[in-house]
Amino acid sequence: MTRLPGHRMSAPREPRHAPVLAAEVLDRLGPRPGETWVDCTVGGGGHSLLIADRVGASGRLVGLDQDPTMLDLARPRLDAAGARVTLVHANFDQLAGVLENLGIDAVDGVLADLGFASDQMDAGARGLSFREDGPLDMRLDPTAGATAADLVNAMSEAALADVFFEFGEERHSRRVARKVVERRATRPFATTADFAAVVRSCVPRSGGIDPATRVFQALRIAVNDELGALDRLLAALPKLVRPGGRAGVISFHSLEDRRVKQAFRGPPWEPVTKKPVEAGDEELARNPRSRSAKLRVARRT
Ligand SMILES: C[S@@+](CC[C@H](N)C(=O)[O-])C[C@H]1O[C@@H](n2cnc3c(N)ncnc32)[C@H](O)[C@@H]1O
Repeated sequence: MTRLPGHRMSAPREPRHAPVLAAEVLDRLGPRPGETWVDCTVGGGGHSLLIADRVGASGRLVGLDQDPTMLDLARPRLDAAGARVTLVHANFDQLAGVLENLGIDAVDGVLADLGFASDQMDAGARGLSFREDGPLDMRLDPTAGATAADLVNAMSEAALADVFFEFGEERHSRRVARKVVERRATRPFATTADFAAVVRSCVPRSGGIDPATRVFQALRIAVNDELGALDRLLAALPKLVRPGGRAGVISFHSLEDRRVKQAFRGPPWEPVTKKPVEAGDEELARNPRSRSAKLRVARRT
């Protein structure tokens, strides 16, 4: 890469991530002036900014992200927002404790836009992508927990196969797990390119997607305990959202959507969206990431 004189890699930059279903989020969740809202997944701050704008100077937004680098990226845009914004580095499964520390008993609304931001996927050093070589890390919170390399170098063959099958719906899960265990006996895995090459050597290519896609998704879900965190958030929400308040979750695969659907099904929730809201043609053409996005919203009775 050619560096221009004076070019700083750390210069503030705009997030690359475009918020999905932005108009639909505002329409179905309906944040109003003066309300207190939580964005559980600040990411690039796209949804946060829209909510902050709606709640206005008399309102408040508490924003969480488990990745401090995303909070740093979003902070400049949110500092400029009208509302009072408090950003907290935390997993959303700690939401009850975060609100308690801030002296907030209950909020008017909560949004969670699950998964990862484009900025995280593009950063090879995070090890989330099989397209970029980097350390086999995959932690969305780079400050805590076991990395993907720790998992693939230590888990039993049966446990690895279960992860690939359950979280990635990978039909060749057993074959991949066997190959991973064979290979690590001579040389432990350290990089995404190395791991992806081993996966590709035992998963046949089908339909234009990279054969490593499903195993990478599975490993990311396991490393970040994504489904466990979602279950804990959904279980905590009824106590944290005041009656009349709204909660919305944007999910990106059926394992997540199933949980949200189940949690919002009955009391103390009533559905705002009977069916999940999906992206329209214009957004689909503009933002490929919106293809699998599903928004479900419920009102606390
Ligand atoms: C899809 S992005 C959110 C994008 C954001 N809505 C926007 O408009 O820019 C998901 C973000 O949530 C964060 N995240 C994922 N799981 C989390 C969890 N359990 N707790 C806190 N943050 C989480 C990720 O680090 C990432 O920054």
